[in-house]
Amino acid sequence: MPVPWLLATDIDNTLTGDPDALRGLAAKLSELRWDGRLALFLVTGRRLDQVIPGFADEHIPVPDAVISQVGTEVFLPPFADGSPPLGEWDALLHRAYSRGRAESFLEGIAGLAMQPAMFNTPLKVSCYLDGAPDPDAAAQVIRDRVAAAPDGAGYQVVWSSGRDLDVIPAAAGKGKAIRFLIDHLGLAPRQVVVAGDSGNDRTMFDEFGCGVVVANAQPELAAMRDEESARDIYFADGRYAAGVAEGLAHYGLL
Ligand code: GLC
Ligand code: MG
Repeated sequence: MPVPWLLATDIDNTLTGDPDALRGLAAKLSELRWDGRLALFLVTGRRLDQVIPGFADEHIPVPDAVISQVGTEVFLPPFADGSPPLGEWDALLHRAYSRGRAESFLEGIAGLAMQPAMFNTPLKVSCYLDGAPDPDAAAQVIRDRVAAAPDGAGYQVVWSSGRDLDVIPAAAGKGKAIRFLIDHLGLAPRQVVVAGDSGNDRTMFDEFGCGVVVANAQPELAAMRDEESARDIYFADGRYAAGVAEGLAHYGLL
């Protein structure tokens, strides 16, 4: 199924946040999909069962794939509660990752609180650090532990919004999951554009180099503005879906 364009976008605070703007954007994206000009991936920290109701309740457009739980699960249509994630991706991620080992990197961090069980899976250890005396410093300690561990190369720390920290397989994450799916589906897009607002979107920009950062982005993503790199990143003036639409107009899709 070759397509000219692929848009891989985060959901929360990238698409959502301005319902009217999202309604307009979703209509345009759906039309482009229908015309065979665009493939759309939703790439999110949410679980699949938190995405599905959004198609009806939040104007979230129905995509060609959902990459959920920070790039540790991949789903293809039809999207239904209880469908299993794509087995090939799941098997690949299990090769060098143990949940027990991932949890061990969090031991003894003052003020750390585990996220609810529904956000902790065999491939994703997630906690909150906003109760730590210095959340950024605590996140750095965890990163340093992983970097120093003999088996650390199998693990990846994702730090977002001054609150959420995930320890996931090094082979996982939003950027790598998109790359995997492009190959898996044989999409061969001429151009890939990504869109996001926070730290867990970072790997999408690193992997593809072309994308939209919305104006309401968290500092860790907005900081890409000051980085020396060959990437073609558009920093929108618009917030939420209005920023995404502005960026897609910049690249010539809308
Ligand atoms: C979503 C997930 C949460 C994760 C966060 C940042 O909110 O539910 O588990 O920590 O994204 O990646
Ligand atoms: Mg977000």
